[in-house]
Formats: sequence, structure tokens, C-alpha cells
Amino acid sequence: MESPKPHIALLSSPGLGHLIPILELGKRLLSLHGFHITIFVTTTQASTAQSQLLNSQTVPGKLTIVELPPADISSLVRPDTAIEITICIIVRESIPALQSAILAMTQQPTVLIVDIFGIDAFEIADQFQIPKYVFITSSAIFLALTVYVPTLDGLVVGEYVDLQEPIRVPGCNPIRPDDVVDPMLDRKHERYSVYVDICFRLLMAHGLFLNTWEDLEPITIRALREDIVTFTPPIYPIGPLMRSVGPPIAGRECLDWLDMQRTESVLYVSFGSGGTISAEQLTELATGLELSQQRFIWVVRAPTKKDASATFFTSGNGHDDLSEYFPDGFLTRTREVGLMVPQWAPQVEILSHPSIGGFLSHCGWNSTIESIMNGVPMIAWPLYAEQRMNASILTEDLNVAVRPEILPAKGVVGRKEIERMVRRVMEGEEGNELRGRVRELRSSALKSLNEGGSSYNSLSQVARKWEMSDK
Ligand code: UDX
Repeated sequence: MESPKPHIALLSSPGLGHLIPILELGKRLLSLHGFHITIFVTTTQASTAQSQLLNSQTVPGKLTIVELPPADISSLVRPDTAIEITICIIVRESIPALQSAILAMTQQPTVLIVDIFGIDAFEIADQFQIPKYVFITSSAIFLALTVYVPTLDGLVVGEYVDLQEPIRVPGCNPIRPDDVVDPMLDRKHERYSVYVDICFRLLMAHGLFLNTWEDLEPITIRALREDIVTFTPPIYPIGPLMRSVGPPIAGRECLDWLDMQRTESVLYVSFGSGGTISAEQLTELATGLELSQQRFIWVVRAPTKKDASATFFTSGNGHDDLSEYFPDGFLTRTREVGLMVPQWAPQVEILSHPSIGGFLSHCGWNSTIESIMNGVPMIAWPLYAEQRMNASILTEDLNVAVRPEILPAKGVVGRKEIERMVRRVMEGEEGNELRGRVRELRSSALKSLNEGGSSYNSLSQVARKWEMSDK
């Protein structure tokens, strides 16, 4: 009799930017290897976008989604608690529910995969004596910096952001001090110690998956395998993993509008699953878009006091009236050329539409991959987390994006600079060159995913290991 297929449990930390790639990994393990998949979702409050996404994913008998009860973290976080700490607390508080859910299963998992914020759940894998893996839902450069941070911590005196020289990490282009990940911006802050602790514990995993592919970051991937730290778990670049085009999870009207536009004539503007910009920046962006005289779709959210991830957990729920933040008459004047979408839009479907010619993006890694996979050049406008590093990969390493300068005195990107960036991507020779390079990246990504390609082989290698140890 054939032995049962391995049962893979995946745990997603809160936020659609983490949930989407975890879901995709689960789906790929099912479609390529026929494994049983259970995806555990942690949250504090479900959003409309999350519910719509999850409702479309279950495959009866094969892929099960378990939404763990919302964690009550009210007494554990303050309004100013850093987002990374809040996410880790939600995961930690969800562990008893995860344990009960696993105990109640008829076929217990044989492997646990978590994302970078889910490392506390290693204790569950240890308790059930199953191997534990981390899916780094970002780039190899992000992982390289992360495993190297404990070394940097011993080498660097003072704040990283005050360094006069770029930061050197083996296998990576020098990283500008300003571009480090958010937790490194202030070494005295609690979130820096939380990050350093994650950097150490990551290395206890049985393997690290990456949402990238060998040809995109070959030198960094080699360095990760050979010489960044003495012992790194096996590295498996298995990407790009992204949500495929399907029935839009919201906002069909954007696609109808795009159907009426010329090929590659529309700029898509979005700051990710919850990113927001300041009121002043919103006004500059609106004015810059209008000055550029290009068509656009803009996913708009009410501003925060500063660029931040403040609306991280609420995306898809609100329908604010945003007209007060735009210049007088802006909405009327741009009615013919621009479409404003409140809160949430069907991004993958938009980016794959032939009318899209550019993407002004916050450079979340999922958005980055979705842009590459649709051959769309970008305006890199990072906000938080590892997005400044992603922006520098896109502009300096890969040359598929342009990056606006921030006006130092005001802390915003000015209207003229925005106009210039939009024109660079949407018009003329430079736009065509960027588009040509991004299309080459798409071809290399597709090659890596096909049978015999590097990402296909990487995933098959782990899958075989799991099948063997299950016998
Ligand atoms: C966070 C991090 O900050 C990011 O840098 C990290 O790589 C992942 O998590 P997030 O804002 O979630 O960022 O960005 P991103 O990684 O781009 O993921 C957003 C996802 O939501 C994408 O898959 C995107 O297609 C989807 N989305 C976003 C929509 O479908 N519609 C929207 O309106 C906004």
C-alpha cells in the first residue's frame, strides 16, 4: 500500500504581504507534489480583503485553511508599539490555539513552515518532533543582511544610520546606511533587540526558503551558502511565488476602465497592503501626477501623520472621503485620465492588464515580484520594513526602476520630481529600456519555475527529502 503523502503545516503571521506568499507555497506543494496542506492564519481582526482571499483558496480534502481565533493583545501592546513587535506578539499569543488545532487533527503534520515573524512557533515543531522551516518571503539580500546582523552588531559602534560608509555584507552590493531595514534604524529601540534575536534563531531552522530565484541574485545566494556565517541552514530559492490572476478579490470596475485605455498608457500607483503617506505628500503626489499628463489608477488611503504602516491591519475595510486632501478641482480635472480606488484594488489583475505601462510602488517584495512577472517597470517609493533595500535592488542592481529624491527640508517627494519620474518611466527611450530589462527578468523567472529550472529543482529537492523521511 502506498504510504500517505507528507502533511505540511504552514503558519502565516498577520498581514496580507505574509499570507499571500505562504498560501502560494502551500498551493505549489499541493500542485507539484500532491502533499496535504494545512495553512494556519494568525490575525487580530480579519479584513474584507483577507476573507475574500481565503474564501477562494480551499481545496477540499487537500488544502485546508484554519483561521486561528483572533489573539487578544490589548494588554500587551501600546499604540506606539513597533509593528514588528506587534506581529511577533500576535503569533506568540496564537501558539496555544495552534497547538490545540494540531492535536485535534487526525493526520498530524510532518513538517512546519513559518515566516520570519513565526519563529516562536518553532516550539510547536519541537514538541511534535517535526522539522521546522522558515519561508523568507523576501529577497536573498534581505536574508543575507539578516544573518549578518549579529556580526555587524559586534563590529559597528554607534548607530548604523550614522555610518559614513556603506554597510558591507558578503555577497551583496554595499548597502546605504539609510536603506537598512527598519529595526536597524535605532539600535536602542526594543525592536532592534527583537530583530537580532530573530537573526540568531533563524539559524536553528532545518532549511530556509526564499521568494527569489538563482538567476536574480546569484552572488548573494552563493554567499549565503558559503561564507556569510559559519553555519547557515540549507538555502532553497523557490520563487517567484505570487498570486495568479483569478477572479478579482475586489474592484472589477478598475479592469473595465483599463479595457478602455491604450496599451501601456496607464501608471498604477499603490503603497501595498496597508501603506499610507502623509497629507502633504498626498497633495504633492496628486499634483505631480496631474503635471505628468499621464493616465493613472491610484489606490488611495487616508493619510497618516508620517509615512507609516499604521493601517497595516485594516486594509480593505474603509471607504473614507479623501477629496479634502487633493488640490482644488483635482478630481474633476482628472476624471477622464485617472481612476481613484479607495483602500484596495485587484493588483495582480491590474498589473497583468496590457494597458499598464508603469507601477509607482512602495517596493514590498510581493509587489516587486508581481511587477517583474508582468514586465512592468517601476517608480520605487519605499515606505518601511525592508522596502528601501528592495528599492535599491530594483534601481541599482537590476536597473528596472527609477527612484525619486526626497526634498530634505520637507521630507516629501516634490511635485516636479514626481512629474519627472512618471515621465521617465511612461515616456520615451528610457521607459522602453527599463521595460526591456524587466521583461528579461520575467523570462529568467519563468525559466526557473519550469520543470528542470532552479526554483523547480530546489523545491523538488526538499519535497523528496520529506517524502523519504516520511517512509
Ligand atoms: C510587507 C512588507 O513591508 C514588505 O516589504 C514585505 O516584503 C512583505 O510585507 P506589504 O505592504 O504587504 O508589505 O507589501 P507587498 O509585499 O507588496 O504585498 C502586498 C500584497 O497585497 C501584494 O500581493 C499585492 O498584490 C496585494 N495587494 C495590495 C492587492 O492585491 N491590492 C492592493 O490594493 C494592495
